[in-house]
Amino acid sequence: MKKTNSQNIWLSRQKKDIFIKLSKVKGYRSRAAYKLLDINKKFKIIKKKSKVIDLGASPGGWTQVIAEIQNNKNEIIAIDKKPMDPIENCRFIYNDISNFLKCDETLQRNYFDVVLSDMAANSSGHRFTDQINAEKIYYLAKKFALKYLAAKGNFICKFFRNSLEKTIVQEIKKSFNIVKIYKPNSSRKSSKEIYLIAIGFNNLHKD
Ligand SMILES: C[S@@+](CC[C@H](N)C(=O)[O-])C[C@H]1O[C@@H](n2cnc3c(N)ncnc32)[C@H](O)[C@@H]1O
Repeated sequence: MKKTNSQNIWLSRQKKDIFIKLSKVKGYRSRAAYKLLDINKKFKIIKKKSKVIDLGASPGGWTQVIAEIQNNKNEIIAIDKKPMDPIENCRFIYNDISNFLKCDETLQRNYFDVVLSDMAANSSGHRFTDQINAEKIYYLAKKFALKYLAAKGNFICKFFRNSLEKTIVQEIKKSFNIVKIYKPNSSRKSSKEIYLIAIGFNNLHKD
């Protein structure tokens, strides 16, 4: 079947992308692995013994990076609404985060040292709809982090530059000691994707 122009542009970009090549060589399931490697090199969020949960984990690049940092010694929890092939020492929960938040009885509150979210919705092709979906996902991840993070825990979350950025940063500053915005080298320059790095959770509610 003949490819469309945008499919051809996508294919040629994939062929040139250094992080796709590197991922293949290193056996990472996604180029996204390099974003977490970069974030962790700069902010030292994930330690050998941190209790980590990975939201929007499939196909598993970030989970592989966490497992590597921890020498496969800790149990990692990963959640996604898409299936994921097994990773050693990873407990995978196949669910949508919004469902999970409504009915979870499996995870302990205020337990994790690190909540990571690389969740993203598929593009609808409509800028406004995409923006609303991205905001919804960000607020789901934030709700999850506030419920499951332990005191002094850290939250790393993907979101997209938009008009709400300032509000998001101001809100999250109420619950963490340090908040930064970071764009890893491997995040495409053309993408509005950025990462919120929130360090030192200080807003624990046990009710
Ligand atoms: C960019 S991919 C994550 C890539 C992953 N970090 C890696 O390194 O391989 C985004 C993921 O978020 C997941 N996702 C989006 N919305 C979700 C939701 N509401 N609940 C669970 N997973 C969700 C998608 O299914 C998708 O697998």
